[in-house]
Amino acid sequence: MQTATFEALLTPAGAALLAEATAAYGREDEFALGTRLRRSHPGELVAAALTQARLRARAADKFEPADAARMFFTVDGYEQATRVAVARHRASRLAAASGAGAAVADLCCGIGGDLVELARAGLAVTGVEADPLTAAMAAANVAALELTDAARVECGDATAVDRTAFAAVVCDPARRGSRGRVFDPGAYRPPWPFVLELLAATACVKVAPGIPHDLLPGGVEAEWVSERGEVKEAALWSGGLAPGGVQRRATLLPSGATLTDRDDPGPVVRPLGGFLYEPDGAVIRAGLVTAAAALVGGGLVDPSIAYVTADDAVATPFARGYRVVDTLPYDVKTLRRYVREQGIGILTVKKRGVGVEPEKLRAAVRPQGDAVATFVVTRVAGKATVIVAEPLPQGV
Ligand SMILES: C[S@@+](CC[C@H](N)C(=O)[O-])C[C@H]1O[C@@H](n2cnc3c(N)ncnc32)[C@H](O)[C@@H]1O
Repeated sequence: MQTATFEALLTPAGAALLAEATAAYGREDEFALGTRLRRSHPGELVAAALTQARLRARAADKFEPADAARMFFTVDGYEQATRVAVARHRASRLAAASGAGAAVADLCCGIGGDLVELARAGLAVTGVEADPLTAAMAAANVAALELTDAARVECGDATAVDRTAFAAVVCDPARRGSRGRVFDPGAYRPPWPFVLELLAATACVKVAPGIPHDLLPGGVEAEWVSERGEVKEAALWSGGLAPGGVQRRATLLPSGATLTDRDDPGPVVRPLGGFLYEPDGAVIRAGLVTAAAALVGGGLVDPSIAYVTADDAVATPFARGYRVVDTLPYDVKTLRRYVREQGIGILTVKKRGVGVEPEKLRAAVRPQGDAVATFVVTRVAGKATVIVAEPLPQGV
């Protein structure tokens, strides 16, 4: 979309058209809706309004639905925006560390996913975005969500911003190239040396969860964040935003439960007990599996595998618990016989640390019957083993 077309959507006539398209989208056939709207509006504007209506419907998944229905998106801007729960967590941590009303820069603000939550957390935010259409949308989102007292947007190069007036800086570099997502921090925009420059002062920089630990600068806290068990991002906190000397942290949303390297007694490997625990992805990415093991009074089943075993069922948000029902050698004939004898028809196969394809194994053991089971294929004392596991109720 051209910036001029977007600006036309913000005029009273454009806004009325967009409101009509947003309200009708999903209730009326899109082709029929477009045809109807084109009878009284220019085709280009109708196309832009329908694109916004489509993105708003999609964005209800990432933002509060009431916000999504009022916001503006480019496809890239939507896809790169921080999910609301994660943005809220970041903003509240930043506001707690910086104090109410502190001036913060959101360098690379995109369409404003983080920006609006920083403003809502009581910070005075300046968003900076290089792409003119995206910057215009961020400004429109600030206005649509009635946050103009707390947030403003500038179109420009984040690397050229004078940062002296800000108590802290947030930066979410673009991690996409012409061929899709980039995983190498060397390909971030702005580039990694700029990120390091920010982290030498007081900053929070969002990075990909797969960032290698050896790239993390000294004195910086890396926080991996998951939402409902799915890892969403890592954020690097520095200076006044990371005062506790923590190097690695795992935070689980929506609960906000958090675990750090300070809770980690180091590796303990032990024989398989009556219970098995599968740590949350953020705990695994943060290298804190042994900290989660300590919480359940357990240890690792194998020094290099992220499964924990313990003698007791302990409620922890940091790992999914299972009762160990049986232990079998990893041998297809043995497993097939077990499945037949137990009448297992609904079989979940999980694996870690072994070259097994869960779908192929599932098919090979021919599940049939009414019983439900979970096979966890992993290495125990160096041997490929199948642990028959029964999930504990959530919260145990
Ligand atoms: C990952 S997105 C930011 C998403 C944002 N945090 C949100 O929640 O909506 C990164 C943005 O950085 C912008 N960008 C890349 N290099 C930039 C630069 N040097 N100055 C300003 N913006 C830049 C891109 O145009 C893109 O919109």
